[in-house]
Amino acid sequence: MSIDPAIVDDSAQRVPLRVPTHLGVIMDGNGRWATARGKRRTEGHIEGVKSLRNMVELCINYGVKYLTVFSFSSENWSRPREEVAFIFNLLRRFVASDLHKLIRNNVKVRIIGSRAGLEPSLVRLIDDVEAKTAGNTGLVLVVAFNYGAKAEIAEATRRIAREVAAGRLAVEAITEATIEAELYTAGLPDPDLIIRTSGEQRISNFLLWQAAYAELVFVDEHWPDFNEASFVRVLETFSQRDRRFGGLGAAQS
Ligand code: FPP
Repeated sequence: MSIDPAIVDDSAQRVPLRVPTHLGVIMDGNGRWATARGKRRTEGHIEGVKSLRNMVELCINYGVKYLTVFSFSSENWSRPREEVAFIFNLLRRFVASDLHKLIRNNVKVRIIGSRAGLEPSLVRLIDDVEAKTAGNTGLVLVVAFNYGAKAEIAEATRRIAREVAAGRLAVEAITEATIEAELYTAGLPDPDLIIRTSGEQRISNFLLWQAAYAELVFVDEHWPDFNEASFVRVLETFSQRDRRFGGLGAAQS
């Protein structure tokens, strides 16, 4: 665990490997991975958790500071009931099996998404994980669970509207920062890079506000197959992007 990262010299490409501060991942393709092997979809999700574990390690080793993973979207409720229940249990099992390791590795866990509709015992578990890792200062692992970006923005808007209605906030005083402070991700930097596995090229209601200037990289591998080599390939692609944030960028300034 001792790659000194942020910048890893990649002499073959002659481009220094840049590591994003905040990486977002849409972990897609567990089901297809399993189906292609004649297995049940749920087995794909089990492999998906192994891949997540591996990704957490890679982020620690390469110096990513924030990792946000999309693990259950508010739209995923439309899946068969058994699959939804399985994914919920997976979160419980992930916490049971990995919490100590996360604490040992100085990982701070934050779980974002709507708590409405979650069983009280799951909400307690989420609160407990956050509390037990709150003092950690290493990688921030943000798990988007029961998360949908449009719902997040609507919820933020309702809270702001309440402040206005109560006379505590003037309409003219509402800025981007006012909205950001009400999002689930308040206090986190925006993602620099978002990876989606499994060949789909869309953002599927993930971090819509926060992704305004994120680089998007789509890879064909299914999530359970995503490994260190895939990660380095993505970092190489990211390193070659000219991030302009609406300006002119390095080549023209
Ligand atoms: C994407 O594959 C995966 C999900 C929608 C959810 C499951 C996520 C994991 C197993 C990772 C870790 C989860 C937790 C709770 C810590 P898919 O089912 O959409 O695959 P498909 O597009 O091939 O059907």
